[in-house]
Amino acid sequence: MSNIRPESMARITNFELANKFIDEQVKLVREQVGDKKVLLALSGGVDSSVVAALLIKAIGKQLVCVHVNHGLMRKGESEQVIEVFGKELDANLIYIDATDRFLSLLEGVKEPEKKRKIIGGEFIKVFDEEARKLEGISFLAQGTIYPDIIESKGVKAHHNVGGLPEDMQFELVEPVKLLYKDEVRVVGKALGLPASMVDRQPFPGPGLGVRCLGAITRDRLHALREADAILREEFDKCGLASKVWQYFIAVPDMKSVGVKNDLRYEGWPAIIRAVNTVDAMTATIEEIPYPILHKITDRITKEVDGINRVLLDLTPKPIGTIEWE
Ligand code: XMP
Repeated sequence: MSNIRPESMARITNFELANKFIDEQVKLVREQVGDKKVLLALSGGVDSSVVAALLIKAIGKQLVCVHVNHGLMRKGESEQVIEVFGKELDANLIYIDATDRFLSLLEGVKEPEKKRKIIGGEFIKVFDEEARKLEGISFLAQGTIYPDIIESKGVKAHHNVGGLPEDMQFELVEPVKLLYKDEVRVVGKALGLPASMVDRQPFPGPGLGVRCLGAITRDRLHALREADAILREEFDKCGLASKVWQYFIAVPDMKSVGVKNDLRYEGWPAIIRAVNTVDAMTATIEEIPYPILHKITDRITKEVDGINRVLLDLTPKPIGTIEWE
């Protein structure tokens, strides 16, 4: 198949078209793969999840999904991968909790680019180690989508499989590579994946590693994860979750003085960032109503150990990038 999306290809906008696409791809994948095994790095993001569900439908247990938890996932994410793919879809799922490996390598590392390199490099290492333990793998599935090809990245940076060693190259299976993101979501829903997985906001490959600023510590990472979960919960409740493109908490490596239970309480600030964009090249700020901001502030400062202030980032992109790093 050519990498250029044909003009004639109809946009997949409803279940009927999605089911037609699924049937076609199931047939094509079966033809390509035969009785061989396929490996997939399943991050739990939209694209890899939809590819997993599609391939489970096409080839069942011939698909081996590997989910690497690098310890920088949002609250509940790895658990959802295990629940949906391991239990509900009965996938051949290998779950690797590599939290300790990643966090010990990242200890004391402050520089953003260095942190990214460590996370990316270690991801490949863990994935490669697992892949080598498996026998008879002939194909590598990827959640490449059409914009990835247009941007000529070729392979998804956040899956990092593009960097597999020379002797670990497989033939690729890329069933959604001609689809746009909104089409991937429709296909995912038609495959029965939960909305909480398919409508998920973008999440960087290095995960919370780019939001736990400076050198990552377990306690500050924990505080960030809990504060982020509260933000997501409150955005869900008030309807902002389906309206705002991307929203999250960043926690810098600095403390200020506060008062808790009449005692001096030094804590980190939690910074709220909520942006809207079309292509992530530029972004505007979502105007969150004050009562919601107060509720979030109240919950985070009361419920999250180590946080004593909540701040709001009002900076559009440019000049601020979306992530803080
Ligand atoms: P910035 O911070 O550059 O982010 O304005 C633009 C968008 O890209 C996301 N992002 C990433 N996505 N792997 C990804 O798949 C990454 O390493 C990565 N880093 C940033 C960011 O969340 C925002 O949506």
